[in-house]
Amino acid sequence: MKTKPNLKNAYDLKSPSDNIELYSSWADTYDIDFIDEMQYELHFHVASAFVSNGGRGLILDVGAGTGALAEALLNKAKFKIEATDISKEMLEVAKSKKFYKGSFLSDLTKEIPVDDDHYDGVVSSGTFTHGHVGPNAIHELIRITKPGGLIVISVNEKHWIALDFKSEVEKISKFIHKYTCEKISIYGKLSTHDHKDDEAIILTIIV
Ligand SMILES: C[S@@+](CC[C@H](N)C(=O)[O-])C[C@H]1O[C@@H](n2cnc3c(N)ncnc32)[C@H](O)[C@@H]1O
Repeated sequence: MKTKPNLKNAYDLKSPSDNIELYSSWADTYDIDFIDEMQYELHFHVASAFVSNGGRGLILDVGAGTGALAEALLNKAKFKIEATDISKEMLEVAKSKKFYKGSFLSDLTKEIPVDDDHYDGVVSSGTFTHGHVGPNAIHELIRITKPGGLIVISVNEKHWIALDFKSEVEKISKFIHKYTCEKISIYGKLSTHDHKDDEAIILTIIV
């Protein structure tokens, strides 16, 4: 039986195959019953941080989902954005919105099928959350980003602590230009659901 698509079950996901199953059944309603009804705002924070840190050029949105982050970015400036996600169904919804110049399937727990130094920027909202995408994946994001390029990702704060992202980022800091972390709210001020106070870290890396 398929896992019911909702935030509680998304937070319980443990493996790439769990994610594929849940998001394949969530793709058609995700924009309404998650983004709109739960007042999800992470994509706006990531887009703002990307723009305020001078993001430009060819960008990859990892764990792009239905394209919320691309829409937030394109509302701020003309970017050239590509999408990748583990869920074919989520990517199909994203592609139908025509925000992306290209898209491909990938699993962030493995090697991303892209050459070294390919992108000027990498962004991600909502993908580094409870479940399986841990701090190791940041190495791949750095590998595919040009020197001097910009990476902005959100990491759920509890996941950041549980998987000790801080230690990994400190190790990584020796071979990047610089990084910053900022804590923000994931959901809007007027939201009333059980996770309304959840927070995330916006990790900004200049490679
Ligand atoms: C909460 S959604 C976020 C989607 C979108 N970025 C947003 O802000 O609305 C998480 C997305 O990460 C994708 N995902 C989960 N595990 C993944 C993995 N191992 N590799 C690539 N994408 C993954 C899911 O399919 C889903 O589309």
